[in-house]
Amino acid sequence: MSVLFTPVRIGSVAVQNRFVRSATNDYMADDEGFVTGAHVDLFARLAEGEVGLIITGNANVRPSGKAGPRQMGVFDDKFIDGLARIPAAVHRFASKIFLQISHAGRQTKPRDCGCVPVSPSPVYDPATKVMPRELAADEIRGVIADFAAAAGRARKAGFDGVQLHAAHGYLLSSFLSPHTNRRTDEWGGPVENRARALLEALRGVKAVCGRGFPVIVKLNSTDFLEDGLTLEDAARVARLLEADGIDGIEVSGGMAEAGRGSVWPGLRSQSDEGYFVANATRIKGAVDVPVFGLGGIRTLAVAERIVEEGRADLVSLSRPLIRDPFLVKRFRQGLAAGSECLSCNRCFDPRGIRCAVLDRTP
Ligand SMILES: Cc1cc2nc3c(=O)[nH]c(=O)nc-3n(C[C@H](O)[C@H](O)[C@H](O)COP(=O)(O)O)c2cc1C
Repeated sequence: MSVLFTPVRIGSVAVQNRFVRSATNDYMADDEGFVTGAHVDLFARLAEGEVGLIITGNANVRPSGKAGPRQMGVFDDKFIDGLARIPAAVHRFASKIFLQISHAGRQTKPRDCGCVPVSPSPVYDPATKVMPRELAADEIRGVIADFAAAAGRARKAGFDGVQLHAAHGYLLSSFLSPHTNRRTDEWGGPVENRARALLEALRGVKAVCGRGFPVIVKLNSTDFLEDGLTLEDAARVARLLEADGIDGIEVSGGMAEAGRGSVWPGLRSQSDEGYFVANATRIKGAVDVPVFGLGGIRTLAVAERIVEEGRADLVSLSRPLIRDPFLVKRFRQGLAAGSECLSCNRCFDPRGIRCAVLDRTP
């Protein structure tokens, strides 16, 4: 049997196989951030499709952290009942589901978050054309408390765990990056200080939810900026996270302003697959907790090599599961061809994620 279909533990949770649905903002919430029936259908399909661990799209922990329209919110208790519909639908099958909790930091726009976007330091973002406002130290403590409260809501709603979004230039990732974090107080400077917000968020979540509640992180491994986060620093952050009880690390990269984000277009061959896996392997060398590799993985053959060769413990996919939520089940049943995803990125649809290519097919 393929190693991809062997079980794995993420903290206290047993996952049936090594396939992860990487967090995918679905644009399916209502205008206030409440879960809709479209969410329930989406996650039920992924679970029926035998994805071992499903990670939701990012849900914002406070209103100022909203990344864009129709994003799920988790910043108030009023969201718990709606959120509970998602694990209830998923747990009819064998899949596990984690809520990704996030604050978009300076990677949002005033019209989306309803405020001046915030950042560790006031560094202009040429991608969003935003000059963010610097967070005061007590505001940083406030956001950390929001992450902990949001995780508490996720647990109450029945999620199996949470993922802290510390990638792609979002707030926790922007604290890690020397490009966006130029602070000289305890939150900036050496990597131990730049990691403080993320580590405090992890400690806060564990304090609210209990040590047994799984917490994983999506971690930037590079910003693709000369003065950005280095892979060596990311490995150091991974070690610090492990010491504080992180249960798994999904390795990503990119920042919009670098002109190189996390969702690469135009992947054509097996050699294009797994574009962040080398970084995941470096981080795997630094920690013992499970590491998730991702970035353009499209074929079972490549996924198998990644796990068999010990370059990552699990593989994460986003776009292929928009194209076909049943892909993992088809792989298990012997599908030899890879995903039909063309990596055209037209699945980013503000009316709700969909495969634009498939939608054209009669
Ligand atoms: C429509 C769409 C929405 C995404 N939303 C998120 C998100 O909410 N949080 C996140 O960490 N990554 C997000 N990503 C990035 C994916 O999780 C993944 O890291 C990236 O697409 C590379 O994997 P892939 O080649 O399998 O698509 C999104 C990607 C897509 C295509």
